[in-house]
Amino acid sequence: MKRVTLNEIFNHPITQKYLQRSGIHHAVSTAEQSVTLAEQQGVDLDLAAKSALLHDIGHYEWYKDGKWDYEEYRKHDIHAIKGAERSHKLLIRLGENKERAKTISIAILLHTDSYLPFSIESMRTPLHDVVFRADEMEELPGGAHHYVEMDTGEANERLARLEERILQNQDPKRSIS
Ligand SMILES: [Fe+2]
Repeated sequence: MKRVTLNEIFNHPITQKYLQRSGIHHAVSTAEQSVTLAEQQGVDLDLAAKSALLHDIGHYEWYKDGKWDYEEYRKHDIHAIKGAERSHKLLIRLGENKERAKTISIAILLHTDSYLPFSIESMRTPLHDVVFRADEMEELPGGAHHYVEMDTGEANERLARLEERILQNQDPKRSIS
């Protein structure tokens, strides 16, 4: 089965449409951070990068009078659920291995528990923990991390470099969880 690259995922129209809402900069930086943590933790680098790149793809636009409405967002947000579904559809369409597509989709579903009525902190797998912590490290006060800009050219260059790093450092024997 062919390898689906980070650049292929990023340049797909579904990603381009939905990733703009939560910000390309946040997605790319979280993917880089996630690979760094995965290297330290012995987690599969490819899964960590793809899960982090797509973790916020489920965001809805919570705008009211031109501004992000955080109260509405906190009450009604299900971006992790939508992101899990959207990313799964996208990955399968691109030809990703089905087992890996499911693993990535679940990591996106569980990258936060802010939308759940209970905490999942003690139940995270090493992959879930890596994506959760990378996201947290990239967070800025007031959700400002969603507004830092990055053009498509820079995003593609950084993702190509990250892809190289994954190919060089990936240990094929590492677990996928
Ligand atoms: Fe995020």
